[in-house]
Amino acid sequence: MRGIILAGGSATRLRPLTLVSSKQLLPVYDKPMVYYPLSLLIELGLRQILVISTPEHRDQYERLLGDGGRFGIRLEYAVQDHPRGLAHALLLARPFVGDGPICLALGDNLFHGPGLPGRLRGALRRHRGCTLFSRKVAAPEQYGVATVDARGRITGLEEKPERPRSSLAVTGLYLYDNDALHKAAALTPSPRGELEITDLNRSYVGEGRATLVELGDDTVWFDTGTPDSLLDAAQYIRLQQQMQSEPIGSPADSAYRAGLIDRDALERQAPVLPLHARAPADPAGHRHGLLTEPQP
Ligand code: G1P
Repeated sequence: MRGIILAGGSATRLRPLTLVSSKQLLPVYDKPMVYYPLSLLIELGLRQILVISTPEHRDQYERLLGDGGRFGIRLEYAVQDHPRGLAHALLLARPFVGDGPICLALGDNLFHGPGLPGRLRGALRRHRGCTLFSRKVAAPEQYGVATVDARGRITGLEEKPERPRSSLAVTGLYLYDNDALHKAAALTPSPRGELEITDLNRSYVGEGRATLVELGDDTVWFDTGTPDSLLDAAQYIRLQQQMQSEPIGSPADSAYRAGLIDRDALERQAPVLPLHARAPADPAGHRHGLLTEPQP
């Protein structure tokens, strides 16, 4: 399965922050926003990931993340000339994706929770057609909204409905089989001129080939596309990191835990937390902090 992180768009809701900067490079507490979905995809086992951004910002992403070697993965880059929709970005990924399945992550979505990686890996194993992840929210009208029947099957999807028929927001993590590419190519632009991800997902729902995985109350989800949600996410990460002494959304740490890079490679990378403050991460229980390392 190939991964795609979408880091394009014009991010009008975050202006003037985004007049010059790319939204997904803005800080969420102590890291650029894009670190969080990248770290999640590494934890899920994705090893080849395409970052799609804008012509102005592509080089900044490459400067930040390189070819992925420092995380033991391969990263590639592509640009979307205009904000033509999330489903349009999929079309740009066609040469990268080949004929395999796709895991698409929005670069401004941040997920966190104790059981989350395990739950997502289970969904990945069971994945057929299209798999969506939903979270109950207080203001569903800001998102794609799913309705389900008594057996949990998706009965409808609406993009930012004025009167939502459920409180289940569709989050920015999507699994697709390769049919998504020709389905995206067959979409027509919405009234706002974009190829909508919700229209792509609806096409799978219409064929009975979409699964909804509800993320429970133990999962925290932020779409960091507004000033308030950006600040909420930053405060959440700060508090969690203080309590658990372990960085959240650190691709290098995720790569280390996945066995993709060794401890030296982790320590060579600028730590987002003092190394001595981190929890033990290797099976032998050795702390990998410099200060706690046994002295020779
Ligand atoms: C996009 C999708 C929406 C989804 C949301 C999740 O909206 O169109 O269906 O619920 O991402 O973050 P956007 O935030 O790009 O307006």
